Amino acid sequence: MSEKVKKPVYQPNREFAKDARIKNMCEYNDLHRWAEEDYEGYWDHFAKEKIDWMEPYHTVLDESNMPFARWFEGGKLNVAEQCIDRHLDTRKNKAAIIFEGDRGDSQIITYRELYYNTNKMANLLKNEFGVKKGDRVIIYMPMIPEAAYAMLACARIGAIHSIVFGGFSAEALRDRIADAEAKVVITADGAYRKSKPYMLKPVVDKALDGETPVEKVCVVERNGGDITWVPGRDYSYNELVKDQPSECPAEPMDSEDPLFLLYTSGSTGQPKGVQHNSAGYILWAQMTMEWVFDVKENDTYWCTADIGWITGHTYIVYGPLAMGATTIMFEGVPTYPDAGRPWKMVEEYKINQFYTAPTAIRVLHKLGENEPAKYDLSSLKVLGTVGEPIDPPAWKWYYEEIGNSKCAIVDTYWQTETGGHIVSPLPGATPIKPACATLPLPGIMGEILDPETGKKTEVGEGGYMCVTRPWPSMIRGVWGDPERFKKSYFGDVVKDGKPVYFTGDGANYDEDGYITITGRTDDVINVSGHRMGTAEVEAAVKKHAGVAEVAVVGKPHELKGEGIFAYIVLKGEDTLAEEIEMVKEINQVIKKEIGNIALCDEMVFVPGLPKTRSGKIMRRILRAIAKGEEITQDTSTLEDPGVVEEIQSVVNSCMI
Ligand code: WT7
Repeated sequence: MSEKVKKPVYQPNREFAKDARIKNMCEYNDLHRWAEEDYEGYWDHFAKEKIDWMEPYHTVLDESNMPFARWFEGGKLNVAEQCIDRHLDTRKNKAAIIFEGDRGDSQIITYRELYYNTNKMANLLKNEFGVKKGDRVIIYMPMIPEAAYAMLACARIGAIHSIVFGGFSAEALRDRIADAEAKVVITADGAYRKSKPYMLKPVVDKALDGETPVEKVCVVERNGGDITWVPGRDYSYNELVKDQPSECPAEPMDSEDPLFLLYTSGSTGQPKGVQHNSAGYILWAQMTMEWVFDVKENDTYWCTADIGWITGHTYIVYGPLAMGATTIMFEGVPTYPDAGRPWKMVEEYKINQFYTAPTAIRVLHKLGENEPAKYDLSSLKVLGTVGEPIDPPAWKWYYEEIGNSKCAIVDTYWQTETGGHIVSPLPGATPIKPACATLPLPGIMGEILDPETGKKTEVGEGGYMCVTRPWPSMIRGVWGDPERFKKSYFGDVVKDGKPVYFTGDGANYDEDGYITITGRTDDVINVSGHRMGTAEVEAAVKKHAGVAEVAVVGKPHELKGEGIFAYIVLKGEDTLAEEIEMVKEINQVIKKEIGNIALCDEMVFVPGLPKTRSGKIMRRILRAIAKGEEITQDTSTLEDPGVVEEIQSVVNSCMI
């Protein structure tokens, strides 16, 4: 491997660094060393500094039952109180949330208003729907302020929320409701996309059709669309909330009481309910907000994610509010009415930190190359990216055209399970390189290990991205399946005799010890920064009666990062016309089972799949064929070696 062209290095902006929370690499190294030498003392310091405890904890970290680590045992707190109440003395009239609707409507919610709105929703859940501490509440909502109230209301009364992204289908919603055994669903009639109303409530109706643990549905009015009401089950938020008291005591929660579940794809057909608990999660959400985005008291911060993903949880709601920041919530899509929308908003709101995904950057670049120049982007200080490795051309455009070559780009590497960033530059300290997540954040024992030996890898060697000690915001469990938790994250890499947390990503060190993430090592595809399990898509495709077998792989995609490429073996011999019809039908099935996000970009009908004699599908071969690469792998061990050529000829004829 001789791609030894050194990446350019960009030093932090000196002006910015002067006031940054972490000002230089000496400070970074000091923090890191402190954590290495006295791990518990380090976290104890920050837990005391950042959290307003109702009752102090007695133990910083309990590792007696690994991999189930317990943090800040004995302590009591309430996350909603951390995010709202404690700011009322000093920030009562400060904007907590600035909402910008799809059609340009906007609303400012101060900390005072956030307090009352959250309390009212909390009372509604408690008094009208009987929601108690520990109950699960599904939130299936558009990007409107009520979604944040719903999250915080649950936190306030100790209920466990589980947000399901609004793009998921009724079937996907039904599965998550069933797995979480949720009692209540909070939804909206619908919302707006590209100025047009779309509906959500009918999806909920479908998901609840038949047997369901859900007793009550709370419907927030957003677009006034026509919906059906099931008497005794469905209630209008807007009607009920008016009469709720505006004070609701915050439930004292144990540090390790669950805060939320968030379902994410893994290597089986069934998504996992990733569980995050209270104290550790909110601590790291706040610390990373402060360190990585370095938001100052009068700053305005915008993360473009959807609250249905972990980024929306930690970096639209919990992190910004825990530190008392002003966070923007945007209902629309970044390319509507044109690809200048985000830059117009930056100018309009004087946004200081902007956080988005590489896929969005690529689309905004492609569709709106000249748009940034039309707006005043001089308020920007920090630009963030997340979700997938960012490619150097997108990085360069972001750095030069959006950041005017003066903003730090924080390429934040993390995942649903890590709760917050784990590898990222610090904007005032870390010299950055294009498309490189750089170094573990202070306190995170992130290392690239050799999966065979458990030893730290050498420069350029490549290995598995691991975290060798538990950290406060790490996943606490897979809901209802402790074995799956152990197997998914602690089964692959053993260091010094101890299983360590493995992220599922490959990575390598460069000559400066910087970490570059190379992508998933498992069968998970990263579509537009969202994780999609191949097994999940395959399970959906198999529901079509005409499908005998299917294998799905990721294929590099110009805008999405990776697209979904499906190899399908049909039961019967179909004509071309029938195959064209099949493509439509199979996509319909996927849409029904998962949602539009899982639609296949390419589908090919093949006579068979390459399998070993024991029946295992050789995905590596399929990935290579999809990319049009040479097959370097030995195919003689296949059950039917001839099938590879047959597949290749089908794929080649499709590509002409
Ligand atoms: C997977 C996690 C974390 C919030 C959004 C996605 C990939 C994430 C980066 C980055 C390279 C990245 C990894 C990871 N990923 N950020 N900066 N550089 N890869 O959350 O759905 O849990 O997906 O996204 O593969 O494992 P998620």
